[in-house]
Amino acid sequence: MKVLHVVGARPNFMKAAPVLAALKRRGARQVLVHTGQHYDASLSDVQFRQLGLPRPDENLEVGSGSHAQQTALILGRLEPVVLARRPDWVVVYGDVNSTVAAALLCSKLGVKVAHVEAGLRSFDRSMPEEINRLLTDQVADLLFTPSVDADANLACEGVAASKIRRVGNVMIDTLVRLLPKARRPRIPGLAERCIPVTLHRPSNVDDPASLRRVVRALERIARRAQVVFPVHPRTRARMKAAGIKASGLLLTEPLGYLEFLYLQKHALAVITDSGGIQEETTFLGVPCLTVRRNTERPITLTLGTNVLVGEDMARLEKEAGRILDGRGRRGRVPPLWDGRASERIADALLRA
Ligand code: UD1
Repeated sequence: MKVLHVVGARPNFMKAAPVLAALKRRGARQVLVHTGQHYDASLSDVQFRQLGLPRPDENLEVGSGSHAQQTALILGRLEPVVLARRPDWVVVYGDVNSTVAAALLCSKLGVKVAHVEAGLRSFDRSMPEEINRLLTDQVADLLFTPSVDADANLACEGVAASKIRRVGNVMIDTLVRLLPKARRPRIPGLAERCIPVTLHRPSNVDDPASLRRVVRALERIARRAQVVFPVHPRTRARMKAAGIKASGLLLTEPLGYLEFLYLQKHALAVITDSGGIQEETTFLGVPCLTVRRNTERPITLTLGTNVLVGEDMARLEKEAGRILDGRGRRGRVPPLWDGRASERIADALLRA
């Protein structure tokens, strides 16, 4: 059995690492392709190292660009790689542009595609990731879902039940493995406990007025607890262009996986617009405030510690105050988020 994995952006790496490891233990031949969608050391190299991912066999070096350019470059550059390597399965992860481009290409080539983290839906088609999820799941041959809501979404879209395997949350496999190695980041002035923040969604950062509103709210929250903000390159560029200083916050470069995990583990609360962080905080039992109108991970709201505050900054401040007063949400860990999802994926792939 030969499996070719395609990764491209930061949130793919922690999902692919345990699947590669589980397949390696079972003796599968594997090829790792990095599309190069993320290329900054802080978003890619550091993560690869800390997660113990092997050096990619191929790097397509597509870099940044419009969605059309990025997707088209991946299609063009991945085709000869797949034709030459002749894998039995191509595995794609999550919902980034690299995911949908690889899935589309392989389905056209008649190469079987497995999608890890299938079935999640925000029902908001203005999000690029939602389009990526919908299309990837339509062409995938095997769909690995993290939770029961994802199975239901796929059934509604007419995906045959025979293609779906509910395996649990593979991101949690990495968290469980690396939690003991989480390490305190070297940030001068970092408090023992703080509120880490991540923001990079176009809906929050591309419009200068929205970005300013969020940063102002964070500055007010920072009067009660230290707010630490590792700034994604996209957000940094937008802040610079709009002249937003965020003086009351502790700003840093994007952190490594182990350093950010340390911050989450010791956090008073986390404020984010990321998908994966909503899940990680639920697993860790840390209150999470999500600055989005919707989430493709509703189980973090129903079972976990997540609260959607939308674009209502008064609500964000109110919820943060509630948490700092000791009245944050307590949640439960969803079923199958047990650190063994990648074992189930590897077994299913080898049987398929
Ligand atoms: C991508 C994913 C998003 C994911 C996020 C995690 C898509 C559609 N979006 O968003 O789902 O949550 O990754 O980070 O696939 N840039 C750099 N260095 C890099 C990469 C990007 O400076 O290594 C800058 C460039 O200015 C680029 C911008 O960030 O134009 C956006 O990068 P892109 O890969 O298009 O999307 P992300 O916002 O990172």
